[in-house]
Amino acid sequence: MMRAIRDSDNLVRAVVFVRYPIIWRCRNDSLYDEILRIKSWKMEEQAKINRELQFGVPIYEVDLPDFATHKQALVDHFLALRKDSPGTKYSNQGGWHSSQNLHHSKEPSVQWLLQLIARSGVQCIRHAGNVPEDAQIVMASCWVIINEAGDWNMPHAHFPSDWSGVCYIDLNEKATKRTRADKDGDIIFFDPLPLGPQYRRPPTLTKTPVDGRVFVFPAYLVHMVAPHFENKPRIAVSFNFNLVPKQKA
Ligand SMILES: [Fe+2]
Repeated sequence: MMRAIRDSDNLVRAVVFVRYPIIWRCRNDSLYDEILRIKSWKMEEQAKINRELQFGVPIYEVDLPDFATHKQALVDHFLALRKDSPGTKYSNQGGWHSSQNLHHSKEPSVQWLLQLIARSGVQCIRHAGNVPEDAQIVMASCWVIINEAGDWNMPHAHFPSDWSGVCYIDLNEKATKRTRADKDGDIIFFDPLPLGPQYRRPPTLTKTPVDGRVFVFPAYLVHMVAPHFENKPRIAVSFNFNLVPKQKA
């Protein structure tokens, strides 16, 4: 499946074509059995996965195919969820944070999204290596965050999960449009070992997300979301993966 790997400075870019189904099993969790029955899923055509090594930490980037077709249904569903629940509090400063069981959703658009996130995530994690032979990769939690103008997420990590990620559903601005600061709405990753400028290594990495893009990274990696200042809500889905012992047949 790995078709090309090219090294350039600290960037390793891998183009991975996802063509084969990934078998999911999750103990005490029927989600994956159910979504595997969605036969209309077309990701096997091509999914491009990029990996960057930043501070020696792999950060994967995936653009979900056919995202635009499903975007509005996802936006409508998540805004409706917010109406029905006061939300909960984690790293969100002013934003709405759903419960962490979105991976149990029966909503068709969410199941479509989960399927792509799951398959992308497994590809990334397996590419990173160090997955024991007797382990399987399961999505342990998933949630949606809706940030209005001025809302942000304080620095945090997703430890003790093994891998984490975020998928962008609806953002306010094009990558080139800025409102108050050059990092509005960006995700910012923090170097786990910030040694300082004498090593010519900035202590943070800023990514400007776009709709339908997924980042997958080790759960220990501290990150934050800068505030945005536009009227339209910023919607993103986050998730955690764990490596757990395989179920006995
Ligand atoms: Fe996070």
